[in-house]
Order: sequence, then structure tokens, then C-alpha cells
Amino acid sequence: MGNGAGDAHPALHLRSPTPDDGVAVFELIARCPPLDPNSRYCNLLQCSHFAQTSIIAHAENAAKALGFVSGYRVPDRPDTLFVWQVAVDEAARGTGLGSRLLEALLTRPALADCRYLETTIGPDNRASWRLFERLAKQFGAVIETTTLFESQRHFSGLHPDEILLRIGPLERIAD
Ligand SMILES: CC(C)(COP(=O)(O)OP(=O)(O)OC[C@H]1O[C@@H](n2cnc3c(N)ncnc32)[C@H](O)[C@@H]1OP(=O)(O)O)[C@@H](O)C(=O)NCCC(=O)NCCS
Repeated sequence: MGNGAGDAHPALHLRSPTPDDGVAVFELIARCPPLDPNSRYCNLLQCSHFAQTSIIAHAENAAKALGFVSGYRVPDRPDTLFVWQVAVDEAARGTGLGSRLLEALLTRPALADCRYLETTIGPDNRASWRLFERLAKQFGAVIETTTLFESQRHFSGLHPDEILLRIGPLERIAD
């Protein structure tokens, strides 16, 4: 399955977050527009209750986070991993880290029963579209798109539409 995406960062550590990562995650998200910054408390919940479906990347012995993916199982569809935010520090972009984080998350034994990945993307976020198009190809999956949240109706026009990508069924090596 590997795509070699992580080879540019052999010294990076990818692991489940812990509450001690909350501040570093908060600061990373703040450095990664157009992501909405969340409250520190929200990031702490991602790093605790949702740690099994989230992943952080950092250099060895460094407190600063270089990458983070927050996710959760959709409550009434537990075979679906919803990816809430993907953040890669600007200094580490374009080296495959975003792809590597998603691949590492999806190949966790604890998530082997997730057959679908869903996420939402703004219509103009080219890097994010490419990231998930690449992921779909890598996992032999198709992408279905619908609009999940509408700019005027759900964001009072203050935020662009959020397009839902449903990617699956996901093929893993063991399938
Ligand atoms: C989106 C983001 C996570 C991508 O992370 P990354 O580590 O740079 O992505 P990768 O290096 O794994 O690249 C994945 C694909 O996206 C493409 N890509 C990366 N940056 C791109 C850009 N600025 N424009 C167009 N395509 C881009 C890569 O070329 C690659 O596609 P390919 O395999 O066809 O070459 C990162 O740009 C980011 O954190 N952006 C700010 C926050 C954000 O918008 N998050 C996503 C919303 S959920």
C-alpha cells in the first residue's frame, strides 16, 4: 500500500495524540488558514476522546506539531471515519506528509472496519482536493460529492459551502 509519501520525513513521529499535545495542536491549526481555529478545549477533546481516530506528527523530541488530522466515527454510521481537519505546517507542505498522516490513520488496526472516509472541503481548496483525490486512488475508492453545509443557509454567508466527499469502499492490503 505504501506510496513512499513519508520518505521525505524519515525522522518524523506519527502517533495518536494525548492531552499533552493540546496546545501544540491549537497552535498548528491557528497557523493553517483557512482552517477554522477551534477552542483549546475542543482540541483537548480531539486529543483525548478522539485520540484513536486522530493523528499527530512531530519531529523527534520537538513539542511543535508539524501535522495533525482530527477524526471521529460518524455516530450512526460507525463504518465511516469522518475527517474533520487536516493541518500540515507550511514548512512541511508538499512533501507528502498530509497523505502519510491519512494513510497511517486508515491502516491502524483499530480502524480496519472503517470502509468509508468522509470529509468536507471548501470549493477552492485545491491542495485539499488533491490530497483526497490521491487518497481515493491509493485505496481503490470512488468519491461521491454533495453539499453538506451551505454558505448562506448554514454559515450566514460568512463561510463558503462545505462540500462533502464520501470516499469508499476503501481497499486495504488485507482485503
Ligand atoms: C491541505 C494540506 C493538508 C495538504 O498537506 P500536504 O502535506 O502539503 O499534502 P501532500 O504533500 O500529501 O500532497 C497531497 C496532494 O496534494 C497536492 N498539493 C499539495 N499542495 C498543493 C497545493 N498548494 N496546490 C495544489 N495541489 C497541492 C500534492 O501535489 C499531492 O498531489 P499529487 O499526489 O497529485 O502530487 C496542507 O496544504 C494544509 O495544511 N493546508 C492548510 C489547511 C487546509 O486547508 N487543510 C485542509 C482542509 S480539511
